[in-house]
Amino acid sequence: MEVFTTIKEVRNFCKKSKSMGRSIGLIPTMGALHGGHIALVKKCREENDTTILSIFINPLQFNNKSDLLKYPRNTDKDLEILKKHSVNCIFIPDAKEMYPVPDERVFNFGSLDKRMEGHFRPTHFNGVAKIVSRLLQITDADRAYFGEKDYQQLAIIKHLVKNLNFNTKIVPCPTVREKDGLAMSSRNALLTDEQRRNAAVISEVLKEASKKTGLTVQELKERVCRKINDTPGLEVEYFEIADGETLQPAVYREASENGLVGCIAVKAGEVRLIDNMVF
Ligand code: PAF
Repeated sequence: MEVFTTIKEVRNFCKKSKSMGRSIGLIPTMGALHGGHIALVKKCREENDTTILSIFINPLQFNNKSDLLKYPRNTDKDLEILKKHSVNCIFIPDAKEMYPVPDERVFNFGSLDKRMEGHFRPTHFNGVAKIVSRLLQITDADRAYFGEKDYQQLAIIKHLVKNLNFNTKIVPCPTVREKDGLAMSSRNALLTDEQRRNAAVISEVLKEASKKTGLTVQELKERVCRKINDTPGLEVEYFEIADGETLQPAVYREASENGLVGCIAVKAGEVRLIDNMVF
């Protein structure tokens, strides 16, 4: 397993792989790896000759410093895990390597980033686009793998790739859940035992609501928010039922050809948890 810290090394590695006719799969991460990341690695290894995983806590996608400082870091453990899963190359740059000069680009995602995460974390997706576009340029990957847990991020990355004519195919991968249904996330490690136990209610309530017939969109939204807000220590930041592609809020349950997705963000103390479910 190669571990690189510079763009030059990764670029050379990728060029060499390509010149040997080997396809490249990229998994961008911010480290603190969990079962969700391992599922991405497995899929990437099945579909590509070379698997590259990047670990970079991208400062430009955090809206506040304390969130960035608190973000879990565990590089030694990450490397151990990745060795076991036969990843070919790990790219762990620092911020100077990724952004040698300030990246002033401003992306336009149309209406995709106006609500939900984009509304509550105003500069977040611009920061995500800056790092993802750089990683795609450096690796020229054939495929890149992202979890469906970050549903809005996935929609924005698909838009970015189309808009900038990248050759990379974006491969969405299903959310991986803990036994009690909580969506796996690096941030789960920041929950207290009590918050962790209570957080299981998020997926329970989403699942129940997604199967419930006979309620309007508004009634469903109220029901989900009430049940979660009634759980000690949890507070809904937003819950939207949206068109599965445009992410515009649904008015009627039956209306969309693209299907509907219920997207939620919940605060457990200082920790923000997001999840979604197809309705
Ligand atoms: O989903 C994440 O972990 C990050 O947003 C990503 C895609 C690695 C970009 O920093």
